[in-house]
Amino acid sequence: MDKKLVLEQIEKNVKVCKKCRLYKFAKNPVPGEGNPNAQLVFVGEAPGATEDATGKPFVGRAGKLLEALLKEIGMQRSDVWIGNVIKHRPPQNRAPLEDEIVACAPCLTLQLKAISPKLIVTLGRFAMTYFYKEGKITRDHGHVIKTPDYTVFPVYHPAAALRNPVFAKALREDFNKIPRILKELSTQSAQRAPSSETEDTSGQVGLGL
Ligand code: URA
Repeated sequence: MDKKLVLEQIEKNVKVCKKCRLYKFAKNPVPGEGNPNAQLVFVGEAPGATEDATGKPFVGRAGKLLEALLKEIGMQRSDVWIGNVIKHRPPQNRAPLEDEIVACAPCLTLQLKAISPKLIVTLGRFAMTYFYKEGKITRDHGHVIKTPDYTVFPVYHPAAALRNPVFAKALREDFNKIPRILKELSTQSAQRAPSSETEDTSGQVGLGL
């Protein structure tokens, strides 16, 4: 089935989802949006107030910073897909609860399966530990992590960067690594012969970064 159609079907399901309590508090669900054929996917934590009001991911101040950083590496929103672990805004932006994460997880799994990106950039600690439980953002940001299912590149959350210039500097430096990582991942998949698929599926990957 066409990727776009699969994503649209998931979106319809999100719009009527009542698997956890969060739909009761939210104005709009925020399923995620972008290029269904994206090689690069960004995953954040959960919608904030502006996202809740519009139904679109990363459209507030953090989203503007994300767009500026994309521009710096020669990309724009329409090149990538952007989503969140949690699709409805938690009340008062509180941290998502374990049962809410469990209820929402199959949706992101299906979205990522449909898009099949080369690289997932996780925005902030929460999104990173969703993919990689042992992760520590201060240690792991800016390093490529291979999980059994995905290649993940954790970076600081743009909202944290707006609050703290140290995080802003690290976020910009990490973003600048993205084009080279994508290039190396493309080269690796082009070179990989079907018989040599024996790579290590956990831990950090030596991309020389
Ligand atoms: N923060 C997030 O984690 N996600 C959004 O969509 C907006 C802000």
